[in-house]
Amino acid sequence: MKKVIIFTLALGFALCSVQAQKKNTNKNTVNNRVPTALGTEADGTVKVTPLETIELPESFIGLDAPLMEALKLRCTTREMTEEEIPMDLISSLLWSAYGFNRPESHKRVAPSAVNVQEYDIYLFTKEGIYLYNAEKNAILLTKKGDFRKEISSQKFFAIAPISIVMVANYDRMQVFKTTEDRDFYAAVDAGYISQNIYLFCSSAQLATVACGGINRDVIHKLLDIKNGRAMLAHPVGMKR
Ligand SMILES: Cc1cc2nc3c(=O)[nH]c(=O)nc-3n(C[C@H](O)[C@H](O)[C@H](O)COP(=O)(O)O)c2cc1C
Repeated sequence: MKKVIIFTLALGFALCSVQAQKKNTNKNTVNNRVPTALGTEADGTVKVTPLETIELPESFIGLDAPLMEALKLRCTTREMTEEEIPMDLISSLLWSAYGFNRPESHKRVAPSAVNVQEYDIYLFTKEGIYLYNAEKNAILLTKKGDFRKEISSQKFFAIAPISIVMVANYDRMQVFKTTEDRDFYAAVDAGYISQNIYLFCSSAQLATVACGGINRDVIHKLLDIKNGRAMLAHPVGMKR
């Protein structure tokens, strides 16, 4: 009889703690979410109807360079080849730029002012323009065709197999009341993403260059940006 009582108590306790854990998980995934703006998916990315969805491979590849080495090697490299970059490297590159490193609280590798997570990360390739969806670890084809040269007339854009284009979505920045503030924080936040890209590239021995000299009006038209700003682009390729 004593054993039955102890067993029943233990079972009751275990069930209670599972319920409590479930409650905590819900709290993390729902309550801690960044408020979504009009035209924005629950995960914070801009709403699109993808022509195709490509699931990315698991993003953690074992890179050898420790942080201090990656910092030591960080540099702008404009000389790159047309060689395709393997998908596992692209996956890790995108994760390093703007993936979720704390998915349970919907937080990213790069910080953002007031955690507004205003950036949409686009990938321009020979095949088309893709939107990075960090939550699904996927890229969504939004436009078919090779638009790499449209980003900028700087010659490495025509050579790099991929270019990352970072677009600040100002719909997600309503907490900042003036355009001046939105411009300021969007520019600051871009720096973190850009440095993450630089450090991943130095660690993976890829070439990249942060580019502010880009055709913003053309990009805005291509991506149908109504209230936002293409801030920086990063062509990425194998080192020449
Ligand atoms: C915000 C920003 C914009 C930049 N825009 C361009 C650009 O349009 N074209 C380019 O060739 N380099 C560009 N660069 C790269 C700089 O020229 C480069 O970082 C600088 O020469 C220092 O070299 P390092 O990155 O190797 O230290 C940019 C860098 C930053 C931080």
